[in-house]
Amino acid sequence: MNVIVVVVVLLTCCVLCPFAIESGSRLEDAERFRKEAERMRLQGESERALKMFQETLRLDSTNSKAYWGIGRILLEHERVEEALPMFREAVTTAEEEKRRDKESTRVTDVALAVMYQDLGVCLGENFRFKEQMKAFERSLSIRYSERTYTNLQRVRQFMCEWRDWDNNMQELERLANRSLHWLPGWQGSNANTIQQSYLLVPPQHALYYPMSPITTLASARFCALLTEREARKLQLKPFRHPQTSWRPKEGVRGYLSSQFAANSFGWTMEHVFSFHDRTRFHVIAFSLSSSDDPTRRSMVEEVEDFKDVNGIDPAGIASAINELQVHVLLDVDGYRDVRVTTGVADNMQVLALRPAPIVVNWLGPCSSSGADFVDFLLSDRLSSPPDFQSHFTESFALLPLSFSVSSLAQSYSNLTRIFSSALLSGYPVLLPRSSLPPDLKTRDSKPTDLQTALKRHGVRREEHGVPAEGLVLADFNKSFKLSPDMFTTWLSLLVALPGSVLVLGEAEEAAKKNIRKEAREAGVDPGRISFPDPHVTHGEHVTRRLPMVLSL
Ligand SMILES: *[C@@H]1O[C@H](CO)[C@@H](O)[C@H](O)[C@H]1NC(C)=O
Ligand SMILES: *[C@@H]1O[C@H](CO)[C@@H](O)[C@H](O)[C@H]1NC(C)=O
Ligand SMILES: *[C@@H]1O[C@H](CO)[C@@H](O)[C@H](O)[C@H]1NC(C)=O
Repeated sequence: MNVIVVVVVLLTCCVLCPFAIESGSRLEDAERFRKEAERMRLQGESERALKMFQETLRLDSTNSKAYWGIGRILLEHERVEEALPMFREAVTTAEEEKRRDKESTRVTDVALAVMYQDLGVCLGENFRFKEQMKAFERSLSIRYSERTYTNLQRVRQFMCEWRDWDNNMQELERLANRSLHWLPGWQGSNANTIQQSYLLVPPQHALYYPMSPITTLASARFCALLTEREARKLQLKPFRHPQTSWRPKEGVRGYLSSQFAANSFGWTMEHVFSFHDRTRFHVIAFSLSSSDDPTRRSMVEEVEDFKDVNGIDPAGIASAINELQVHVLLDVDGYRDVRVTTGVADNMQVLALRPAPIVVNWLGPCSSSGADFVDFLLSDRLSSPPDFQSHFTESFALLPLSFSVSSLAQSYSNLTRIFSSALLSGYPVLLPRSSLPPDLKTRDSKPTDLQTALKRHGVRREEHGVPAEGLVLADFNKSFKLSPDMFTTWLSLLVALPGSVLVLGEAEEAAKKNIRKEAREAGVDPGRISFPDPHVTHGEHVTRRLPMVLSL
């Protein structure tokens, strides 16, 4: 009887916990559980790994790697708020252990440095940029890693932390160059090493650094080649293309984007579909995202055909585009949504499948896709000077005026008269001259027309956070797009124009502090620089921009 009980107990134990505790101390057992949990995590068995990590911690609450593992799983599943305390606990317990035992084999320097790097990534996901910067700095002080260094420069850029800017930017470019070494045709290239290469500075980040256009293009080519490789894996038969036709109603235009919604792109494009000559073109919008907001609804109403292709794989989307016999496909996102781990973005993969005879890069970041599967860049001479053609893989298709369009005049008819005067003072608004009010038609009107028009329409500057008098300059770039060079230019304008003020865009508290410090050091009263509330409606934002004579 006793023997049977023992056997049953043993069997139950084995079934319930396959890694049954055989012998050794509690800590060793915990570590065994932890290793098993890590193995499961790497195999993608998140749920089981999570349980096993928790079991580890039940036995040994000082096991830093178990906190770390849980943090990583939560982060992978975008549970960024829950992940944060785990990473914090991981570094705290690891640091304690290191203090107790300098030579600890449980926590090596490499492990500790990577824990801080992961903590930094998680802090960024939680919008805690100042702490993020500290975490990356700590990681680098333990052990240097190119990835952490690159991450640190990015958060420093968000913080407008410009100390040692030139050196850091040069180093970043050097690292970017090195990480691209395998690119065919690139310095010392060896195309066989593609597997070992990694995307250190993705193209959508390269744009915001003062990088050589050659490096920026190479970064884009990197992603283009990875994208093509992914597309080839799908082994689709090449699409048959429709004959390009210019006969009435036979030209089919397709627009592809994930941003057909209430965002800066959506507000720009909202009414643009209705500008097309419907007697000549059939227009289809392919939306990579789903949404239900007023901007989206008006797009759906105004475009002839609106296809929500969210959730469909790139091959399915490409087939849909091809079936609808699209002649010209315009992509407006570029590498905006590229996954840093793979270098591939869904929209680019659709393009790589060549669903239409002509593919155009338009209105996105105004930089090259680096892709052989994109034929033209639709731009203008000012944004894309013909001399720059060699930095683009697309052929330039340059419009006579501006590549940019705007729906503002249609969206805010209450502001049309004021826009008209803004137009005369150099503001590029898509508005036929014939529609200008008669008193604003003369070319020789001075920019003060704007101020007069504002007064006439009861737009009171004070209500929009700017002084009643004086020149208002504005730069609504987000903080990470500011550079010390550009900011120095603003400061010299403030020095040269007494009574002027500068309005800046969205920035973290720490970034604001750095900006004010820069101003003070240049002898400019920081009170002349303001950061208006970024959380206002688009209508309010457009209205408050009106008094800003120079607004970039
Ligand atoms: C990176 O490569 C480009 C292109 O060869 C070169 O012009 C640039 O000087 C390089 N930058 C650095 C920092 O090495
Ligand atoms: C805005 O950001 C872009 C991209 O970084 C930069 O090229 C441009 O100079 C910035 N403009 C201003 C006025 O800061
Ligand atoms: C114009 O209309 C928008 C949206 O309806 C509104 O937010 C804005 O305040 C108006 N501006 C003026 C000057 O009336």
